[in-house]
Amino acid sequence: TVGNSTNIKWHDCSVDKNGRQRLLNQKGCVIWITGLSGSGKSTVACALSQLLYQRGKLSYILDGDNVRHGLNRDLSFKAEDRAENIRRVGEVAKLFADSGVICIACLISPYRADRDSCRAMLPTGDFIEVDAYYYLDSLVFMDVPLRVCEARDPKGLYKLARAGKIKGFTGIDDPYEPPKDCEIALKCELGDCASPQQMADKVVNFLE
Ligand code: PPS
Repeated sequence: TVGNSTNIKWHDCSVDKNGRQRLLNQKGCVIWITGLSGSGKSTVACALSQLLYQRGKLSYILDGDNVRHGLNRDLSFKAEDRAENIRRVGEVAKLFADSGVICIACLISPYRADRDSCRAMLPTGDFIEVDAYYYLDSLVFMDVPLRVCEARDPKGLYKLARAGKIKGFTGIDDPYEPPKDCEIALKCELGDCASPQQMADKVVNFLE
């Protein structure tokens, strides 16, 4: 039995991840960006994707806001739906990584346990022999304080949340658990913030 299904079997194919990685000359992996709304996740994801593109590396962004327009349109922002949101995106990210693509997932992903279970579902250590670049399953933390995100308020959502017009908004009346063990922390303070390109550079340097 797998989940709620019985009598299902796994099928392998002779074209496998190693072959696909050789074809693309890169390693499929997942870069997971977590942080408050307005912390710059999507902007850094896009800058990173551009940087990789310039270097001939194929990446694909799974953005929480965007995925909620389709695959996850049935989910709300209550804790169990956020968990399901993260689980589904984690599974999709795993498929992208298996296809050889560098998958950049950017979601608030406020709960440590949800992020940890995503990390746990990804295989590690079986890529070393492949002659390619960029392998990592890494967590990037947008270490941007609430006051900075709120001062930016690019979509006006913090204002609505403060006015009580959005309930359960992360950072206001819903929790955000910062990572304890992320690979990269991108710090940003009011008046002291690197550009998205500089932040993306930092991620690429780390990958290299
Ligand atoms: S989560 O927590 O990981 O499931 O969230 P995610 O899928 O990344 O979606 C976050 C975007 O949804 C908008 N939004 C909210 N965010 C937080 N809390 C509440 N209640 C909420 N309602 C709507 C918001 O635009 C988030 O976008 P970002 O890009 O993070 O600013």
